[in-house]
Amino acid sequence: MPIYPERTMLAPGLTISRLVCGLWQVADIEKSGTTINPELGADALQAYAQAGFDTFDMADHYGSAEIITGHLLKRYPAASARPLAFTKWCPEPGPMTRDVVRRGVEDRLQRLGTDKVDLLQFHWWTFEHPAWLDALHEMQAMKAEGLIGALGLTNFDAAHLNLALADGIEIASNQVSFSLIDRRAAGDLSALCQKTGVKLLAYGTLCGGFLSEKWLGQPEPASIPDWSRSKYKRFIDTAGGWAVYQGILAAASDIARKHGVSVSNVASRWVLEHPAVAATIIGARLGENEHRDDNLKVFTFTLDEDDKALLEDAFAASTAIPGDCGDEYRKPPFLTASGDLSHHLEAIPSVYTATPVPGRANRLRVSSGSIWEPLAGYSRAVRIGDRILVSGTTATHDADRCVAPGDPGAQATYILDKIAASITALGGRMEDVVRTRIYLKDAAQWEPVSRAHGRVFSEILPANTLIEAGALIGDYEVEIEAEAIVMQ
Ligand SMILES: NC(=O)c1ccc[n+]([C@@H]2O[C@H](COP(=O)([O-])OP(=O)(O)OC[C@H]3O[C@@H](n4cnc5c(N)ncnc54)[C@H](OP(=O)(O)O)[C@@H]3O)[C@@H](O)[C@H]2O)c1
Repeated sequence: MPIYPERTMLAPGLTISRLVCGLWQVADIEKSGTTINPELGADALQAYAQAGFDTFDMADHYGSAEIITGHLLKRYPAASARPLAFTKWCPEPGPMTRDVVRRGVEDRLQRLGTDKVDLLQFHWWTFEHPAWLDALHEMQAMKAEGLIGALGLTNFDAAHLNLALADGIEIASNQVSFSLIDRRAAGDLSALCQKTGVKLLAYGTLCGGFLSEKWLGQPEPASIPDWSRSKYKRFIDTAGGWAVYQGILAAASDIARKHGVSVSNVASRWVLEHPAVAATIIGARLGENEHRDDNLKVFTFTLDEDDKALLEDAFAASTAIPGDCGDEYRKPPFLTASGDLSHHLEAIPSVYTATPVPGRANRLRVSSGSIWEPLAGYSRAVRIGDRILVSGTTATHDADRCVAPGDPGAQATYILDKIAASITALGGRMEDVVRTRIYLKDAAQWEPVSRAHGRVFSEILPANTLIEAGALIGDYEVEIEAEAIVMQ
């Protein structure tokens, strides 16, 4: 058995353990209001660090995890020899001004008691709100100042990771759910990561412990006390239910027996063998259980073709988790511990405000605040009765910045979010869209734009026209308009 976990380079100067110690479980342990004594918590983390599990993952909302880790970091006077602290900033949607972003990051630094966050991962609750790009640009500036070691994302799908990269953000990693039950990350996201060099940090790899011998052949539990398993039970249900999950567990168990390892090792190994994956994050219940020795065995074997075929057979009985990575936080079915966003947010604010059109009964409009709307005389979108008409939409951010210059697919992703925000503000949904028109600068660029359109509309299937418009104004590669009929 290896003495320490394998290591890998996540970004220049940032070499990490391929088994990251996850601290969301701190929030679960503390949910009744008692906090873990930070020195005792730091003792527990130090035992992990001494065993080579020296990379810790936390977030602004993981109870006192950042504070406990801060107590650990203080024990290492030489910054170069200290364990690595990865955290996340998951702000409520709203304007991401320089001050808001700096306060969010400085809060992390203060709680960790460091002058640099080794990896700061950013989560955003709704892409209809475009301020996430402002946040990332400001964080990139803070990285240049040395306050952030590397910039990561969490729960971003392939399209929005691509948009961030195309808008000039240097992303080291994207932290997403990836397991024998949730295999979405093996699709478009892995392909993009392999093309761009962004690494995946996989969580939920053990489905909160459901992917272990403990549950093999066991009856379905009537209730689940901890957040992590409550969340992954929703994934199991969505993937086809208890019997399908037991089939996957049985296949993993056969493979585990063959290699003399545990079911959890097989579950981790399967994820770690995907080339885009840098590491898996395994949750730790500090002061309760620890599985370090067993988890180290993941580095003692590899899966052969028979093993992979056995797993594929078991997967065939399951249903794919819908959508792409991160959708579980943005749309139904919300695969969170509570089954909705109530643990995280009170409401998702609308980006635009619908206002009545004076003198016109039954008519509403939204404005994006562009100086051109009153000057040229148009609205971002108009609702007349149950009909919504969205103006030709370009990838204009704030007043006049063209997002993702030169990348029509990324611009289309941004545009479709803006169209969704306009329709939502007027009381409709993207499912109500019955027609779209796409105007392209260069017809040769049809494919990335069509794929972006397909990502949003492949099940809605509105009528569509695609037109080569020749030169569009400025750096715009594409413009899209839409029409919806709101279902009552
Ligand atoms: N970015 C995000 O949105 C997000 C979301 C969720 C999680 N995360 C991160 O990912 C981390 C992982 O948490 P998770 O909730 O996904 O849980 P997980 O890692 O899938 O499961 C952790 C649980 O698995 C069990 N376990 C660990 N090793 C085992 C082994 N060798 N054999 C048997 N059981 C074993 C333990 O259960 P017992 O303690 O009961 O034995 C442990 O609490 C979190 O702490 C957090 O850092 C991120």
